[in-house]
Amino acid sequence: MKILIPEVAYYKDHTSLFRGAAEKFVKAANDSVEMQGYFFVALAGGNTPRDFYRLLAKPEWRERMPWEKTHIFFGDERCVPPDHSDSNYRMAREALLDDLALPDEQIHRMAGEQEPHAAAVAYEREIRRVCVEAGMKRVGLDLALLGLGTDGHTASLFPGTAALQEKIKLAAANYVEKFNSYRLTMTLPMLNRAFDVIFLVAGESKADVVYEIFKAHNRRFQYPAELVQPKSGNVYWLLDDATASKLQGRSM
Ligand code: 6PG
Repeated sequence: MKILIPEVAYYKDHTSLFRGAAEKFVKAANDSVEMQGYFFVALAGGNTPRDFYRLLAKPEWRERMPWEKTHIFFGDERCVPPDHSDSNYRMAREALLDDLALPDEQIHRMAGEQEPHAAAVAYEREIRRVCVEAGMKRVGLDLALLGLGTDGHTASLFPGTAALQEKIKLAAANYVEKFNSYRLTMTLPMLNRAFDVIFLVAGESKADVVYEIFKAHNRRFQYPAELVQPKSGNVYWLLDDATASKLQGRSM
């Protein structure tokens, strides 16, 4: 099996990390639009990307993006209404989307307010519909922006959960015992259809799991994040120094 060697970039702090991520995000978007006329991106949830989205909303970055050709998807969502404080959609809307005023047909949120299994089926249908309408030969993403949990989860693919075993569906309702609730998530078959994957990881709390992931890179697949191995794509790990504090590396 081909081993995908990720590209790792280190940044001295949050500010330079998010600026580095913005450069990659903007380049991926413009390259995609130049090549195929659109940019399909799945946004990450959680707290880390909030300030990154705020940066993208600033004119110096917003004006470099082909938003009119961009479709926004979500890597995962909590099973809550879209205006709930836990909603990843709400976080992205407040930090970025409200400033863009994109047409609704370019924003594809997961329906956290619906029954999870029905919402997952509907989301896969939406992904396929939009890809077919764009003339895509193969359903996929141009970029998946992902975070990393301290337990090595990414999106809502948590260790030991059923969705990790999904080999066919592109989206799933995933019961997460530690939260005693369902999450909606893109599955590995969907994430591994991405052309580029960016793991955006910041803060001391992730240093141990990042060390474990990179230490185990040879005998890997211990953590869900390691299973994100796009078949014909690139994986970039963008880390601030606090996260990379247990790795040998250099600051940007
Ligand atoms: C979510 C995310 C999740 C997140 C990690 C890291 O819905 O919470 O999609 O995968 O990226 O849990 O979260 P933080 O950025 O808050 O540390």
